Amino acid sequence: MTKNLLSINDLSKKEILDLIEFANHFIDEDGNFRKEDLFPEKIVANVFCEPSTRTKSSFAIAANNLGCSLIDFDVENSSIQKGESIFETIDALNLMGVDLCVFRHSDSVIRELAECLPKMSFINAGEGAISHPTQALLDIKTIIDHKETLDGLNIVIVGDLDHSRVTSSFVEGISNFDLGSLTFSGHPEMCNRYQGSKFGKYEPHLEKALENADVVMALRIQFERYEKELNLDLDTYKSEYQLTSEKLESAKGDAIIMHPGPVNYIEITEAVYDCDNSVIRQQVANGVAIRMAILSRFLSS
Ligand code: CP
Repeated sequence: MTKNLLSINDLSKKEILDLIEFANHFIDEDGNFRKEDLFPEKIVANVFCEPSTRTKSSFAIAANNLGCSLIDFDVENSSIQKGESIFETIDALNLMGVDLCVFRHSDSVIRELAECLPKMSFINAGEGAISHPTQALLDIKTIIDHKETLDGLNIVIVGDLDHSRVTSSFVEGISNFDLGSLTFSGHPEMCNRYQGSKFGKYEPHLEKALENADVVMALRIQFERYEKELNLDLDTYKSEYQLTSEKLESAKGDAIIMHPGPVNYIEITEAVYDCDNSVIRQQVANGVAIRMAILSRFLSS
């Protein structure tokens, strides 16, 4: 295994399944996260140059559970505000002895950082609209928790797919499995990358897309990634693409409902978010176990 996790494609199918199995060891029989003082000599830095709740906090909890020292790097009060580049900033952390950097940025700079600073490990915690590999791992773990395997499953992803790093990493990750089908749905102007995709078919009519689905993942509109104000009638959008109990009637009765968060309740109703088939809260909790497994593996390599 390499020392960095920059893309889900850095991992083989076996490595993905091994990490998920390893993550299960960090959850006890009561569903609590184990605290194991495995890396008291290691320093982890959380460097988030874009907002985050789940990824940042779960990495912090994972690092604490493993006994690491954690630097919760505060970008807004750092010397970046005095004009220092991100490269000088991360090099400074490297020179001070940080072993592993959990890094989120709106631009694709993590590869260059990893090449320039070979002593440090880098974990991609969100790279613009490009990739979010640790989210893909926790999503795959959540599906396996409920369905045992991804083989044979009909998976539907609906929403603003073009701007979704969650979608791109998830699609790359699940392409390792022998799926029944993979269907992309959503507003055609938000799904350009997935019309004619080698990974699955595009079906703009959501109820049709949901027919016989085993797994349904909804994605919010990423308003912050649009350069111009989005000219969209939200009521029309909701009537066509919001995941509702009525539209879900065409999915299988035991279909699980997923969403990486944060939720805006444009792409999904509160009733669906809270329904018995929703595993959205379990995705959040799985984030800690998966990130404990990732930190353990990459701090050991
Ligand atoms: N899913 C996800 O990446 O959430 P945050 O932006 O809150 O970390």
